[in-house]
Amino acid sequence: MRGAAFDPVDPEPPPGTATLCPDRRVVLCPVDTVPVGRMVRVEPPGLEPLAVYNIDGTVHVTADTCTHALASLTDGELEGDVVVCPVHWAGFHVPTGLPQCFPATRALTVYRAAVESGDVVVYPDSPAHSGEDS
Ligand code: FES
Repeated sequence: MRGAAFDPVDPEPPPGTATLCPDRRVVLCPVDTVPVGRMVRVEPPGLEPLAVYNIDGTVHVTADTCTHALASLTDGELEGDVVVCPVHWAGFHVPTGLPQCFPATRALTVYRAAVESGDVVVYPDSPAHSGEDS
C-alpha cells in the first residue's frame, strides 16, 4: 500500500494509507487488517518499507527488506515468530530482528510498535533494535 504525507489541514488519511503524525508517531494500518499469523507490507512516508506482523495477537514491526539481498520479506513466509525470506530462505526472529541462518548475517531493524485506537503505530525515532547494532 502507498503511504500519504501528513496534511495538517486535512489530517484524515485515505483508507489504507500510512500517516506521519506531528509527534513522529506513524500510523501504519488498522490492526484488523493484519490477522493472527499474517504479515503485511506498508510503505510509510519518509520511512523504509515496513513489515507489520501479528504473532499470536501481538503486533510487531520490522524493516521489510531482507538484509542479505533486498528481497521483500512480506513476499516470504511467517513461520511462528520467524519470517523466512522468499529468495534465499534466510530466517529472521521477528521480535528481535536477529538472523537465524545464512545467508543473512545482519539483523533487521525492529520498530517500537503499539496499537492505538485500533491502528498499528510505530515510533521511528526510537526503534526497538537497529539492524546496524548486530
Ligand atoms: S535476499 Fe533474503 S536471504 Fe537472500
